[in-house]
Amino acid sequence: MKHLISCDQFKKDDLLSLFELTDKIKKNPLAYSEALKNKVIATLFYEPSTRTRLSFSAAIVRLGASLISTENANENSSANKGETLEDTIRIVQGYADAIVLRHPDDDAAMRAAQVATVPILNAGSGGKEHPSQGLLDVYTMNEYKKRMNNLKIAVIGDLKYGRTIHSMLKLLTLFDGIEVHALSVKELELPDEFNQIFKDRNVKYMKHTSMDTLPKNSDIIYQTRIQKERLKNEGINAATASFIINKKLLDTFSADTYLMHPLPRIEEVTTDLDNDPRAVFFPQAHNGMYIRMALLHQCFYGKEK
Ligand code: NCD
Repeated sequence: MKHLISCDQFKKDDLLSLFELTDKIKKNPLAYSEALKNKVIATLFYEPSTRTRLSFSAAIVRLGASLISTENANENSSANKGETLEDTIRIVQGYADAIVLRHPDDDAAMRAAQVATVPILNAGSGGKEHPSQGLLDVYTMNEYKKRMNNLKIAVIGDLKYGRTIHSMLKLLTLFDGIEVHALSVKELELPDEFNQIFKDRNVKYMKHTSMDTLPKNSDIIYQTRIQKERLKNEGINAATASFIINKKLLDTFSADTYLMHPLPRIEEVTTDLDNDPRAVFFPQAHNGMYIRMALLHQCFYGKEK
C-alpha cells in the first residue's frame, strides 16, 4: 500500500492480513515499539478531531516514530494565508516520511496523493470517506461477532454525509451474505453509488423510516450523528433528523445485537445504555489505535507474507 485514500482500494484478503497484524499488535504492542524508529510522520488536520488525530498520534509514537503535527491546520498553517493543499503537501513531504491528512473536501486525499512523494493516509475527506475508521469498524464487528460473513447491519442517522458509514459499508460488503437495513430521513439516504455496490455484491438492502421496523435480530446497529456542518440545501433541521437509541429501545433487540457508533455522539445515543455490554462504541474507538498502528506498519513494510 502506498497511499490510503479510499476503501475502494481493499480486497477481502487485504482486510484479513491487516486484521491479523492488528491482532498481533493488540496482543503485544511493545513488540512493535521500534518498528518505525527514525521515521518522522506528519499529521495535518483541517477539521476538528479527537479520536482520529490522537489515535494516529499514539500509533505513530507507539511504533517508535516521531510526530510532527498541525492541529487546526486551517488557521495554524499557511492555508490561512491562502496556500493550496497541494503546495502544503509538497512542503511537508520534505520533512516527513508519511502524511496523515484530514480535510473538509471530498477529493482532498486524492489531490494530496497526486502530488505526494510520500504515503498519504486519509484521516477523513469531506463527507465521502474515512477509511481508517471503516477498517476499525469492521475489525470491531469481527471481534464481537466472530465473523464477517452473514452479518445483518442496521445503519442509522446521516447516511448521506456520514463518511464513516460509506467506508465501513464498502468494506463490510466485500463479505458474503451481508444485509443492510438503512434508517434515515429521506434527505439523508445513502448516496446513489451504493445501489450499484450492493447490486454487484448481492447485498440485501432495505430502507426504513422508523426504528420499529428494523430487524430485532440485527447483528450490529451502527448509529451516527447528523453531520450538521456538512448539510447543504437539504432544508432539514439536524435536531429532528436523528433517531434516538436509549436503553429501553436497545432492550427490544437481541442479546447479541451490538451497538456501534464512530463517535462523537450527540443526542442520538443516550448515556443510560453505556453500561450495557452490547454498547461497544468505546472499545471500538480504542481499536482505532491498533488498526492505525497496523496501517502505518504496512505502509512502510507491506503485507506480511
Ligand atoms: C467521525 C468523522 O470524523 O467522520 N468521527 C471519527 O473520526 N470517529 C464521525 C463524526 O464526526 O460524526
